[in-house]
Amino acid sequence: MSVSIAIDGPAGAGKSTIAKQVAEKLHIIYVDTGAMYRAMGLYFQRKGISPEDEKAICGACREADISIVYEDGAQQVLLNGENVTAYLRTEEAGNMASATSGYIPVREKLVELQQKLAASKSVVMDGRDIGTVVLPDAELKIYLTASVEARARRRYLELKEKGSPCGMEEIARDIEKRDYQDMHREHSPLKKAEDALYLDSSEMSVREVVDAIIDALMETLMEKRVPDRRLDGVLEELMKKEYGIK
Ligand code: DC
Repeated sequence: MSVSIAIDGPAGAGKSTIAKQVAEKLHIIYVDTGAMYRAMGLYFQRKGISPEDEKAICGACREADISIVYEDGAQQVLLNGENVTAYLRTEEAGNMASATSGYIPVREKLVELQQKLAASKSVVMDGRDIGTVVLPDAELKIYLTASVEARARRRYLELKEKGSPCGMEEIARDIEKRDYQDMHREHSPLKKAEDALYLDSSEMSVREVVDAIIDALMETLMEKRVPDRRLDGVLEELMKKEYGIK
């Protein structure tokens, strides 16, 4: 039996760090959907298309083939066959993704790819609309957030470590702008699914959040799993060890 875990939330809430660790613990794959929107944004940027030019975006979107492969367990994004993973984590790529992810053709194309990835395998998938649109039947849905201050502080430290420091205020402004854009767009805006567990990580360590998610999953699986079908990854063993389930 495959299992889907949907993690949604605003930029900088720690979704990818958390989702990666949950996936590692459960020996299932991690799907970073933001990276797909970033790759699509990179394509528009390379073509010199402005994010406001809806017609050009909708046309160009058809030419951009995005696919996913895994290398040593890490997701790699291919844009028309080229591995573009190394270009996706910049502020510019994030802003371009946020500005162009509201267009329906872009969303339809990537949602289809995401649903295909989760159809036959157990996944931890993070994004903005995973619990509401992409995987509405996910066994577990998490809405992971943190205060703007906490998110800006984390981002500041991350950039400082990489040797490219940026002012904290500028980072906070960027985060607020991105939150607004992602939450107020017409199609699939970021919002908590009604049945999602709300987690505010402002005062929680990564480990605490990961443990809270694994605990919530165990509880859910106790209710939802089909008794005579084995679970994917190490889930079956975890259930037996933690809860004495046979
Ligand atoms: O999670 P991220 O920062 O890598 O995402 C970049 C942008 O992509 C985000 O600002 C909005 C968009 N996005 C989306 O619309 N839907 C998703 N499922 C994931 C990301």
